[in-house]
Amino acid sequence: MDWGMKNRMARIINPDTGRAVMVAFDHGYFLGPTHKLEVPRQTITPLLPYADTIMLTRGVLRSSVDPESRANVVLRVSGGSSIVGPDLSDEGLTTSFRDAIRLNVAGVGISVFVGSEHERQTLLNLAELVDKGEEYGIPVLGITAVGKELEKRDARYLSLCCRICAELGTHIVKTYYCEDFEKVTASCPAPIVIAGGPKLETEMDVFDMTYNAIQQGAVGVDMGRNIWQNDHPVAVIRAIRSIVHENLKPKQAHDLFLGLKNEESKKVAGV
Ligand code: 5RP
Repeated sequence: MDWGMKNRMARIINPDTGRAVMVAFDHGYFLGPTHKLEVPRQTITPLLPYADTIMLTRGVLRSSVDPESRANVVLRVSGGSSIVGPDLSDEGLTTSFRDAIRLNVAGVGISVFVGSEHERQTLLNLAELVDKGEEYGIPVLGITAVGKELEKRDARYLSLCCRICAELGTHIVKTYYCEDFEKVTASCPAPIVIAGGPKLETEMDVFDMTYNAIQQGAVGVDMGRNIWQNDHPVAVIRAIRSIVHENLKPKQAHDLFLGLKNEESKKVAGV
């Protein structure tokens, strides 16, 4: 691996722990003004100190993140469909490599829709991106998207998707956590991070999922809604960090969350 690629990989996966805390803010690229991401700057700014990398589109990056923040960015470069359109899988490349380089990204991210009508097109998009990534030393995050079909998220299907992403040269794969997740990680030669999916019922569910994913071979998270749709997003991300980078157990992370949440509430109340 050349210096640039290694350096950028180290901006995403911390070489001291071998783990990654990525926060995804890219939902608007097909969902529009997602709940609690209506004003991106307000949601993103407080989380920046705790995210190893942020994942978002160039529009939100330029409009809502200060370049002086020194945030490490994984740029979402696929899109072209929307939640009200005929088919979410009908994606193309939305951003040139030239612009990604101008934005000094740590990596670029693209969705693939395996088993969909646009399987071939999205896999070839990924392959094209990997070619460019190798040329310029920029890692590619391959995202195993399921669109509206959340029920697809089982070990058999996700193993297939992750392995195909790895075979096509993806440097990091983003997928969902599922039952028998160790089967997904065992058969994927590229490092895996998990998305959070729709907001879970309790914080403990989020910490359990994070912990279990790490125990079963994930290198970290690339999570969105379960962090910033929570009323205490900073406390959640700090608890997640403690699991990912410091190997805390879910219960310990939950205690940390409660402590931080109480501190925050006291501050707000002026106590
Ligand atoms: C959509 C994405 C999102 O960034 C991803 O789903 C992460 O967010 P969340 O944790 O909210 O699911 O890649 O394809």
